Amino acid sequence: MPLSVAEEIEALRAELRRHEYLYYVLDQPEISDAEYDQMMRRLQALEAAHPELVTPDSPTQRVGGKPREGFVKVHHSTPMLSLDNALNEGELRDFDRRVRELLGHTNYQYVAELKLDGLSMAAHYDHGRFQLAVTRGDGLEGEDVTENARTIRSLPLLVDKPPVDRFEVRGEVIMLRKAFELLNAERERQGLPRYANPRNSAAGSLRVLDPGITASRQLDFYAYLFLVDGKPHFLSHWESLEALQRMGFKVNPHRARCAHVDEVLAFCRQREAQRDLLPYEIDGVVAKIDSVAQQQQLGWTAKAPRWAIAIKFAARQQETTVENISVQVGRTGVLTPVAHLRPVVVGGVTVSRATLHNEDEIERLDVQIGDKVLVERSGDVIPKVVRVVEKGENRRPFRMPSQCPVCGGGIVRSEGEAASRCVNTNCPARLKESLLHFAARGVMDIDGLGEALVDQLVDRGLVRSIADLYELRVETLAELERMGQKSAEKLWNKIQESRHRPLSRLLNGLGIPFVGERTAQILAETFGDLDRIAAADAETLQTAEEVGPKVAQSIVRFFGDPRNRELIERLRQAGLSFQHQAQRQQGLPLAGKTFVLTGVLSSMTREQAKARIEAAGGKVTDSVSKKTHFLVAGESAGSKLAKAQSLGIPVLDEKALLDLLGQ
Ligand code: IVH
Repeated sequence: MPLSVAEEIEALRAELRRHEYLYYVLDQPEISDAEYDQMMRRLQALEAAHPELVTPDSPTQRVGGKPREGFVKVHHSTPMLSLDNALNEGELRDFDRRVRELLGHTNYQYVAELKLDGLSMAAHYDHGRFQLAVTRGDGLEGEDVTENARTIRSLPLLVDKPPVDRFEVRGEVIMLRKAFELLNAERERQGLPRYANPRNSAAGSLRVLDPGITASRQLDFYAYLFLVDGKPHFLSHWESLEALQRMGFKVNPHRARCAHVDEVLAFCRQREAQRDLLPYEIDGVVAKIDSVAQQQQLGWTAKAPRWAIAIKFAARQQETTVENISVQVGRTGVLTPVAHLRPVVVGGVTVSRATLHNEDEIERLDVQIGDKVLVERSGDVIPKVVRVVEKGENRRPFRMPSQCPVCGGGIVRSEGEAASRCVNTNCPARLKESLLHFAARGVMDIDGLGEALVDQLVDRGLVRSIADLYELRVETLAELERMGQKSAEKLWNKIQESRHRPLSRLLNGLGIPFVGERTAQILAETFGDLDRIAAADAETLQTAEEVGPKVAQSIVRFFGDPRNRELIERLRQAGLSFQHQAQRQQGLPLAGKTFVLTGVLSSMTREQAKARIEAAGGKVTDSVSKKTHFLVAGESAGSKLAKAQSLGIPVLDEKALLDLLGQ
């Protein structure tokens, strides 16, 4: 019996929820992103055709609804209090002694968990359905961030078989360090101020009026309390964590039941030592008395529970003085101001330099030489200046030099860009960075060509351009410091091998501003050979997917420079491959054509259609743009169809597609 639309929608939702859980909570996906997207698009198409069947817990509703005017204040069921801190072993033992005295015996256990550095949030559910999310606010009253929280993929919108009808889950909203770095890089590109740390960016992303913004930020929710009418529901904290996990919430796996405070201490030491290995920031460990009956016996002070304590790790922020500010020249010629600090130990590592990113950041921080600043080290990222603590008496402002400190070349800062650049492509600092990028893994893969060798090659004048690498002789390499005959031969072989890397790698390796791995791949696929890319004007370049005016301009500028043209000629002489290997695509019926699929097809799934189009040499992308050649519209096609029509893009039905495919 065929499924009714309502049944199909429900089945799709259940499947999507399961895959969301596997991906976002367990981090163990069973299907590819493309398969997930396909299922999601089918659900979107069905819902678009039957808007009366859309429910707020549908996975399609995670995209972010309409922006609001302001936040509504909501009272917490029970105050969201803070935790008392233990700053060292002695303070933890003091806490344990108080617990022992108040309980009058030693028959208690702790649960030790990570203290995630984010912001706390309460999520309310009714009959398993996510209803309301509230920030901590002042502890008594927070802000309603329901629509924003809905976009957090690890927060379940529907809980299967909850133990009670109405419940509340409290936990921490965090942003992964990687997502934070990406977000800041993007903000820098857009000329917006950087976020100071992942916690601030998580808070900034959750507390925005436009849920669409929250949806675009990769936030995560870790649950740590399960409450019914503001009170714990299970007999022990451990049990509630296990129950939360069973219900589909993300519960941090780094937790332990500890029979003694010594075990809590051991947990803390081990976690602190491994702190940098985690993909998110933690600022300590939380130890909670496991038994809920004992928690109640211990009770609360006005500020915090007496049954829990936060054991804080060594601060990763320290105060110190900026002794000087210099600039470093990167691969693309970007000048990065660097603060030279009076050395200070931050979280176990001595820090004497911190990045200041760019002139705008210096202005935002209002930092000058001589100021006392707060520096922060997090994970393995470069230490940074967080803020000025005290202005120095004889403070001196930093001025971006007008000439490159390494080569004396001119410095330009293009309009709309935060970065200043050295314009001399032969600048030794740029050259060194360029060579390292060219040789890097995933680019031209010249293993063994690291910093120490690049320094020697450039400083001795043996390499003045990337192309010189291909003229190096084994004997020359063997004469370098810390190089024997064997390693010289090995490196020489690696250099020779690199001549055969695909065009996309070479393009990436050239270090054209804004052309990274993905853009290089797209350019290679679209134009097929380096000479065509080098000869193309900005308009032609923009016919490639994802290539906008800024990237196109940058490519034109690069190939317009006679020095770069000479480099290309020399690389050609050296026999590097300038041709995209997938040239065989040429001659296939749909070569060079870009398709977008929408709606529901009857004789095949969209995934199958995509595979067939690709087999015929065509390309399938997600969204309709001027660069789309055909829109294939199945049943219940929605906004993509309207967009294609408005752009005058030919629309094919299923039969027309089959005809094109020659079937
Ligand atoms: S329990 C009454 N557990 O730390 C218990 N809090 O300094 C309240 N936090 O406001 C919180 N990780 O935002 C708890 N595993 C964890 C935590 C955690 C981070 C945060 C939370 C709280 C703050 C207190």
